[in-house]
Amino acid sequence: MRRLLPDPGPTTVEQQLDAYRPWEEPPTARPLVAMNFVATVDGRATIGGVSGPIGSHTDTKMLACLRTRFDAVMIGAGTMRAERYGRVVADPEQRQRREALGLPHDPLMVIVSGRLDLPWEAPLFTAGGGQVLIFTGSDEEPPQTATSVQVVRHEGRVDLGVALAQLRTERGIRALICEGGPRLHSQLQAEGLADELFLTVAPKLTGAGPSILEGELPAATELELAWLLEADGELFARYRRV
Ligand SMILES: NC(=O)c1ccc[n+]([C@@H]2O[C@H](COP(=O)([O-])OP(=O)(O)OC[C@H]3O[C@@H](n4cnc5c(N)ncnc54)[C@H](OP(=O)(O)O)[C@@H]3O)[C@@H](O)[C@H]2O)c1
Repeated sequence: MRRLLPDPGPTTVEQQLDAYRPWEEPPTARPLVAMNFVATVDGRATIGGVSGPIGSHTDTKMLACLRTRFDAVMIGAGTMRAERYGRVVADPEQRQRREALGLPHDPLMVIVSGRLDLPWEAPLFTAGGGQVLIFTGSDEEPPQTATSVQVVRHEGRVDLGVALAQLRTERGIRALICEGGPRLHSQLQAEGLADELFLTVAPKLTGAGPSILEGELPAATELELAWLLEADGELFARYRRV
């Protein structure tokens, strides 16, 4: 892997993220929020309905290493249904590395759901280990699961600004990475709640599927490029909201 910007030169995913400590200076009222997406060159977020076929193993490594740098990982229900997550930091060594950095053993897994129609048989719920917190407007009760699941109810749709404030003040979450999907992403951007965007662009075209952001923003959002990395023709950008 090489760093194209700033300071061009050789790097690795680990070296690049070593100095990245988003939990150190969070905003006071909510966590720092970073988004993470992989897209094709034509800007699509899925191939065959899922994201896995888009990126390379280097992108998977970036995803896994990013998960070691945040107190919480957030996804929408559509992403949970399509991607059927397991324990979010699966490697025990990575969990130890988190603790050495002063982060909780497992990141808190946060799911935003309207209907609470989730794949309860997915390994995230059946494997045990870690904690899941679901924000929902539904009155449904989740089933018994091996993994601890807590539910926070909002009236009607989940108010994402309020949910983030609750995560900061009631759960001590300082930094959260949101892994999508496109509809949750558009709301966070529209409400000015996304501070950073990690975007991998894989050298592929697919011609169909959602983009990384599905929904209109009230105005064009300006981003600045914080870094740009390249490996085997795949680009790894980190943007910051201006
Ligand atoms: N390329 C990538 O990096 C990437 C990343 C993530 C996902 N994806 C792909 O994106 C697709 C899923 O897209 P998506 O846009 O449907 O995913 P999504 O944003 O994860 O899920 C949308 C769902 O989240 C819930 N939701 C979102 N905001 C809410 C709010 N304010 N209040 C209550 N519920 C809310 C709703 O759940 P209910 O249905 O429960 O009401 C809604 O249907 C999948 O194919 C996945 O593979 C790609």
